[in-house]
Amino acid sequence: MHSSFDLDFLSVTEAAALACARWVGKGQRDDADDAACKAMRQTMNFLPMCGTIVIGEGERDEAPMLYIGEQVGDGEGPKVQIAVDPLEGTNLCANGTPNSISVLAATIEGQGHLMHAPDCYMEKLVVGPECKGVIDITVPPRVNVRLMSKALGRDVDELTIGILDRPRHEDLIAEIRASGARVHLIPDGDVSVAIAALDMNAGIDGLMGIGGAPEGVISAAAVLCCGGEMQARLKFSTDEQRERAKKMVGDDVDRVFTTTDLASGKVVFVATGITTGDLLKGVRFGRGLALTESIVMNSEQRTVRRIETQHLTA
Ligand code: FBP
Repeated sequence: MHSSFDLDFLSVTEAAALACARWVGKGQRDDADDAACKAMRQTMNFLPMCGTIVIGEGERDEAPMLYIGEQVGDGEGPKVQIAVDPLEGTNLCANGTPNSISVLAATIEGQGHLMHAPDCYMEKLVVGPECKGVIDITVPPRVNVRLMSKALGRDVDELTIGILDRPRHEDLIAEIRASGARVHLIPDGDVSVAIAALDMNAGIDGLMGIGGAPEGVISAAAVLCCGGEMQARLKFSTDEQRERAKKMVGDDVDRVFTTTDLASGKVVFVATGITTGDLLKGVRFGRGLALTESIVMNSEQRTVRRIETQHLTA
C-alpha cells in the first residue's frame, strides 16, 4: 500500500475520534457510536479510492452506515477493502474509561487480504514477535504461558496476559493465575490489548480469551504489521451463525485460523485514541485546538509509526 494511503486513513480515524470525543463520559453509547460512524464515513468518502467495507457496523439491513458491502471513497482510484471499527470500546467511551479507540485496517484488492469475518465470537491468542512460532491455541493456556516464558527468557511470574473480564473467562483466568503469570483484566476493548501485546514496552505479553471476530481480524492486521503471531478459532452461539460462517470462510469453520488466514499481504492498520489508555493518549482539547495520538502500521514498509496531530478547531 502506498504510504500516502497511511496518511489518508489516518485522517479517517482521527476524524472519528475527534467527533466521538465530544461524547466521552456522557453515558450515551449510541450517540458516541453514531458520531464516530458519521465522521468516519464522511472522511472516507473524500479518499481517492473505490472502497468496500468488508467488516463494519453489521449487515446492510441492520446498520444505516458503514455496513458490510457499502461502497465508500470518491469512486476513483484503486479498489480497497476496509475493515472498520469507528468506536472500539463503546462503553469505555460512554463511561470515560481508558482504551477506547477508532480503528481500521485496509488493503488494495489483489495485493492483500482481510478475512470477511462473520459477526460471531472468536477465541484469540496474540503474542509479539519474540513468541512467534512457539504458541499453539490448541494446547492448554498454562502450556502457552510456559512456552512464552521460555521464548521471552523471563520467569512465568514476570509475564502478563490480557483477558476480557467476562464470566466466560472464569476458568481461563484461574488457570493463568495458577500458572504463576499475572492477569490484566480489561472491561472492554481487546483490540487495544492485542496491540499492546505486540509492543515490548507496553507491559502486556499476550492476549487470550474470547472476543468479537470482527475485532479479531482488525487485530490480525496489526499483528501482521508488527511481525507477531495470532491464532484464532471461531465460536458460535447459534446454528445460524455457524451456517453463515460457512458461506464466508468455507466449510471447516472450526479450524485454527492463523495470522495470515485473517490478514495477509500489503495492509495498513490505523488507530486513534479516544480515551487515554495503555496504548494511546485520548483526544485532548485545548483553546481552539484538539490533540490526537495515533498509531499507523504498514505491512509492506514494515513500519509502526506513532503520530501526534494538532487539529485547529476554532
Ligand atoms: P464494542 O465497541 O462494539 O462495544 O466492543 C467492545 C468489545 O469489548 C470488543 O473489544 C470485544 O472484542 C467485544 O466487545 C467482546 O464482546 P462482549 O462484550 O460480548 O464480550
